[in-house]
Amino acid sequence: MKRKDFIKSCGVIGTAAVIAPFGVSAVAQGSIRDKRIRVAVIGCGSVSGVYLPHLTKSPYVEVVSVCDIKPERAKARAEQFNVPNQYPHIDLMLAGADFDLMVNLTDMQEHGRLNRLALLKGKNIWSEKPLANSYSEGLDLLQLAKKQGVRIWGAPAVVNSPQFAFMAGQINEKKLGTVAAAHAHYGHLGPTWSAFFYENLGGSMPDLGVYNLSTLTGLLGPVKSVTAMLNILTHQRMVDDKGKITVEAEDNASILLEHHSGAISHVMCGFNYFDPYGHQGTGQDKPTVSLVGTRGAMHLIGYDWMPFAVEMATIDHEEPQRFSTDPGSYVWQEGASVICESLVTGMEPLINAEHSLHVLEIIEAARRSQNEGARIQLESVFPYPVIK
Ligand SMILES: NC(=O)c1ccc[n+]([C@@H]2O[C@H](COP(=O)([O-])OP(=O)(O)OC[C@H]3O[C@@H](n4cnc5c(N)ncnc54)[C@H](O)[C@@H]3O)[C@@H](O)[C@H]2O)c1
Repeated sequence: MKRKDFIKSCGVIGTAAVIAPFGVSAVAQGSIRDKRIRVAVIGCGSVSGVYLPHLTKSPYVEVVSVCDIKPERAKARAEQFNVPNQYPHIDLMLAGADFDLMVNLTDMQEHGRLNRLALLKGKNIWSEKPLANSYSEGLDLLQLAKKQGVRIWGAPAVVNSPQFAFMAGQINEKKLGTVAAAHAHYGHLGPTWSAFFYENLGGSMPDLGVYNLSTLTGLLGPVKSVTAMLNILTHQRMVDDKGKITVEAEDNASILLEHHSGAISHVMCGFNYFDPYGHQGTGQDKPTVSLVGTRGAMHLIGYDWMPFAVEMATIDHEEPQRFSTDPGSYVWQEGASVICESLVTGMEPLINAEHSLHVLEIIEAARRSQNEGARIQLESVFPYPVIK
């Protein structure tokens, strides 16, 4: 089944129906074709130290500006990566050196507000997750982007891995038969550097569960209802920027997803997970995503943001085999660079804003399910299958 056919067959009024599609080529055929994309990075904290080495090596990227409300951080990154302009505020950056794409690496709670300001100035956006703080804010941003003739995309980039491609291909070819169930998990002991991870609208779902939610929805298609249990296990934490804080957002989540396909999947994530592989996932060789169907079972080895292989057993080959052991060029921090490549070449990326919004709606529904003790129906869908 092709992605467009799925949306038609879904019969659901969702983001894909609300937002008329407009291709990358519409942007790329404009003034920025055949050029490097001029990138402005906002947020010069931890993850910028992983993004910038990748971005500055891309043949499709010219990093023109960095910005942080902690100006010493912008200064340090500008010096480290030879970036000509640095700013202490988004307003100054938007009024300063011209650019095509803003890469938003700030606190999660700031994403929606800053993305809106940049869209209003006609900038394309790559946003770390989440791309907005609520589903309705995300819808507004997509509509604003369309009105402004630009695009917005959000992390994560898990659908770009060769292992995801292998799994999506096998499912689409019905190698597992009818997929009945799936499970995914991701957790560690929680970031120690910034309080926002634990403040209202933070939590383990938008920071960690978002990877698994993107993977399972990417593999099994949109979700029609969500039931979840969330709680806070560690009520106080020490963080570098604010010292001792009271945790406001969930740090322990179990989310049940009913997909339109009939599959039922489960994601568990949290900031209280002993993880022998650490924050970098070094040496992780166990499955974190598993799917089972009427004709086979499949496991993703490693984390979905840094997978190593896929193990599969089917009715035709009952002995489990390892596939897709070549990492290729995929790295989790490639999202913004891939978007720049797509803006230059006109090639539509697999990463898709409607998919990000669907995951955002799931996260919001999980919070409501916990608060109301109810099963929550969703309205959004996205282009499926997620296959090139
Ligand atoms: N750190 C990681 O390993 C990692 C990995 C993947 C994704 N992420 C995501 O990246 C984002 C940033 O995470 P981080 O770990 O780098 O956090 P961080 O606290 O290290 O960095 C955030 C930076 O944004 C700046 N900032 C906040 N509000 C701002 C504003 N209004 N204008 C300009 N600058 C502002 C802060 O001063 C800080 O320097 C989050 O969405 C997080 O979920 C982080």
